Amino acid sequence: TFYGLIAAALAETAYLTYSVYKETNPGTQKPQSLLKENGDKRKNIVILGSGWGAISFLHKLDTTQYNVTIVSPRNYFLFTPLLPSVPTSTVDSNSICDPVRTIARQTPGEVTYYEAAATDVDPVNQTVKIVHKNMNFSHGEAFVNKDDPIEKTLSYDYLVYAVGAKVNTFGIPGIPEYASFLKEAQDATAVRQKLFNAIEASRLLPEDSEERKRLLTFVVCGGGPTGVELAAEVKDYIDQDLLKFIPGIDKEMKVVLVEALPNILNMFHPKLIEYTKEVFKSQHVDLRTNTMVKKVDARNVYASAKKPDGTTEEVVIPYGTLVWAGGNAQRELTRSLADKITEQKTARRGLLVDEHMKLDGDDHIYALGDCTFTANAPTAQVAHQQGEFLADHFNKLAKIDDLQYLLSLEKDEASKEKLLKRLERYKNSIKPFTYKHQGSLAYIGSERAVADLSWGSWSTVALGGNLTFFFWRTAYVAMILGIRNKLLVVSDWIKVSMFGRDCSKE
Ligand code: FAD
Ligand code: NAI
Repeated sequence: TFYGLIAAALAETAYLTYSVYKETNPGTQKPQSLLKENGDKRKNIVILGSGWGAISFLHKLDTTQYNVTIVSPRNYFLFTPLLPSVPTSTVDSNSICDPVRTIARQTPGEVTYYEAAATDVDPVNQTVKIVHKNMNFSHGEAFVNKDDPIEKTLSYDYLVYAVGAKVNTFGIPGIPEYASFLKEAQDATAVRQKLFNAIEASRLLPEDSEERKRLLTFVVCGGGPTGVELAAEVKDYIDQDLLKFIPGIDKEMKVVLVEALPNILNMFHPKLIEYTKEVFKSQHVDLRTNTMVKKVDARNVYASAKKPDGTTEEVVIPYGTLVWAGGNAQRELTRSLADKITEQKTARRGLLVDEHMKLDGDDHIYALGDCTFTANAPTAQVAHQQGEFLADHFNKLAKIDDLQYLLSLEKDEASKEKLLKRLERYKNSIKPFTYKHQGSLAYIGSERAVADLSWGSWSTVALGGNLTFFFWRTAYVAMILGIRNKLLVVSDWIKVSMFGRDCSKE
């Protein structure tokens, strides 16, 4: 056993060293070209997005078979499951961002990346207009002028549309102006800055002042997993670390979670919902269920709360920091694409796709992830599986194209027969997408997590507690794409366990 353990440790070290070497020293890539080696046209794939769907697709695609271009205004992949840990600096935002260029350099064929947003898709001419937008900088302007954006038009044989979704504000007045979201890395930084702005400002006010109480109230609207995980992380931060630097803040500061429905975490097993409610109660997270937000201004959230007797009352919740986590809505680009295709006219909640992720009504556009409306929830797990499925589908399509091209050149009947058989085999190997749900996980605070785990269709287990928290951490590290980011996240956790989270405003 002893020698076995040493051998396993050595093998693991060798594997890690090799993986790090491969990640930091990408090999040469097959260049893009008009024709494939067999003389057939090399098709152009344009991928829109650098999120879960797009990157999972790129990762598995045989990029030597296509000319691949990836377009995204965000030049990195964001590991969203750990985003709620960023405002409290449990995890550094850099640890969960993986540059698109690094990922693109690790594929066997050359991939072109453009940092740009697609602004128009023309399904008839198979083109996409892309624009390099001036990004937000904290100081000064970038060299590219806002009034003079750089535009480009790309032609595609296939468009892989994975632009995700935007945050749904339901048109509630005040949210765009006063609330932060938790969707992108910059959102996490903004939440942290607002939180510390409010805390530091409150120190100038007398302890019994209403204004001080307001500033020390952190309100999260939306009791889905984003809202729950953020509320849990912020409460941990206050109780475990902030109180060391600002004694007494744990007694003064309030975390409020507002949810319109009777329950939070509605996709979880009822047992886990109850467990989460108990943990929140014991941690003094002020949970306001049955409370529908109606309006927001610079200081208050206005909501309508349903009472147990069925009547409603209007409530005002003063806040110092406000985060809106109300779910997803489709992007304008997705709506405008849907409007151009007759079969998508009813696609209000997302693009309609067939079982191969191909858009209904268009043979050249494939869509995946949060921009689609399917039987599956808009999660990373779904987008990831769809991306891998689609890459496999395209790898097979490339083989089918090759065989059809060879068939068109072949004169000998016996060879034709053989090619036809191979072609048939490949065509039969194309299977519809089936989603395999592996379960849902969420962090609920004080080193506890909830997990709804599934093993196929025959078994589900609902777990909650400290052990689940370790499982949650292990599962997330396993899900992170690169070795670099895995190491960074683990080292962030070690750093926090040794020194605690810091309280700088950045
Ligand atoms: P995204 O990952 O959102 O990617 C969309 C991409 O498109 C981005 O790169 C964006 O920059 C780009 N884009 C936008 N507009 C354009 C344009 N005009 N042109 C080109 N590119 C564009 N799911 C889970 O399963 N487990 C979790 O633990 C989990 N945690 C989450 C935590 C948070 C805080 C959030 C917000 C979500 C979480 N999710 C989780 C959900 C998950 O992140 C999404 O379902 C997933 O990101 C969807 O993948 P996607 O590729 O469709 O979209
Ligand atoms: P969500 O759609 O899951 O939850 C939004 C919540 O906001 C809902 O419960 C809704 O009732 C509430 N809401 C909407 N309008 C409201 C109002 N006016 N007042 C009060 N409450 C209101 O959105 P979320 O949490 O951002 O998640 C989006 C997707 O990402 C989901 O599919 C989710 O499963 C996934 N996700 C998964 C995570 C995980 O598995 N750990 C973590 C975060 C997101």
